[in-house]
Amino acid sequence: MKTHKIAVIAGDGIGKEVMPEGMRVVEAAARRFGINLEFTTMDWANCDYYAQHGEMMPHDWFDQLMQFEAIFFGAVGWPATVPDHISLWGSLLRFRRDFSQYVNLRPVRLMPGVPCPLAGRKPGDIDFYVVRENTEGEYSSVGGRMFEGTDREFVVQETVFTRQGVDRILDFAFDLAQSRPKKHLTSATKSNGISITMPYWDERVEAMAKCYPDVHWDKYHIDILSARFVLSPERFDVVVASNLFGDILSDLGPACAGTIGIAPSANLNPDRRFPSLFEPVHGSAPDIYGKNIANPIAMIWSGAMMLDFLGNGSGVYREAHDAIIHAIETVLVEGPRTPDLGGTADTTGVGKAIAAALEQ
Ligand code: NAD
Ligand code: IPM
Ligand code: MN
Repeated sequence: MKTHKIAVIAGDGIGKEVMPEGMRVVEAAARRFGINLEFTTMDWANCDYYAQHGEMMPHDWFDQLMQFEAIFFGAVGWPATVPDHISLWGSLLRFRRDFSQYVNLRPVRLMPGVPCPLAGRKPGDIDFYVVRENTEGEYSSVGGRMFEGTDREFVVQETVFTRQGVDRILDFAFDLAQSRPKKHLTSATKSNGISITMPYWDERVEAMAKCYPDVHWDKYHIDILSARFVLSPERFDVVVASNLFGDILSDLGPACAGTIGIAPSANLNPDRRFPSLFEPVHGSAPDIYGKNIANPIAMIWSGAMMLDFLGNGSGVYREAHDAIIHAIETVLVEGPRTPDLGGTADTTGVGKAIAAALEQ
């Protein structure tokens, strides 16, 4: 059987605490299902490396990472010492763009055992995907600062939508919607106020919808869509959004489903020319770092998505994915739980419990 080469980048803060648990559970699943993985840990792409070298990564980072099929990534950012735009544009955002990881797939699910902050919802009531455009849009490098330090100073940063970039994310999202029982897609827009780029997005959604006649679709401006996430999350199935809108919705969705501590993501290069990257939605959480109380489930669930990706969603890889999700559900119901879910357990304890549930 093939050996899958995985690069491990823990990053900063709780990235360093949840990564060992992610690896523990992925390795346990690989053992159980006879999948061969080879992990290589990188000691760069973190803010300590920046302090020593004045940059986030070595010059040959691209060639090094091209040797791997996937990147298992914790979180980057330590704003007390390195400005976030330096650390993130020097690592994660570079990976997404240079490895053409144009899909950011972020499941939102109300899991058993997780108290829902919205009244009257039970597990399964909230179950949708945010499909976030991941390489362009509002996260562009087009712009600049002029007349610095004078009273004429100004800054500009453009939104960039390319036809290829918009169409490929819409195609992925419609295709996903078509594969699901509800066959429903919602597009996040703001074409009432942002009068050039967002009407273009809407126009491409309408064109793509014609290729997917079975998919029912609607669109909402991002302001009311955010309200609908809170008021009626059960009506969503696949939500497709630009880079910034998708970023916001993919924290809001998991918060509506209990905690961002369990929310995973897959940064996919669907044509597999470049490595894809699997990471929690959350960041490095400096406020809780060092206490070993971070919830490791987002990291572990991201690992399950990585296994599914390695096997193209089939065979033992899909079984390994499903077994991890089942083990997560068992531990969410029976405990132990970290403090974000009202428990008193630590990161390691939850990781070990999920690995043990998996081995049963
Ligand atoms: P954050 O996601 O790190 O934390 C937000 C809040 O959620 C904090 O109160 C934190 O304690 C809590 N939280 C996050 N993950 C948790 C977990 N696993 N278990 C329990 N509680 C958890 O967001 P932030 O505070 O805006 O950002 C902190 C740093 O992380 C910044 O440098 C930011 O740029 C970076 N960041 C990185 C990524 C990434 O690498 N993908 C994502 C988001 C933020
Ligand atoms: C995420 C994060 C990143 C983003 C930050 C850290 C640049 O919030 O992965 O959601 O905005 O994409
Ligand atoms: Mn985010």
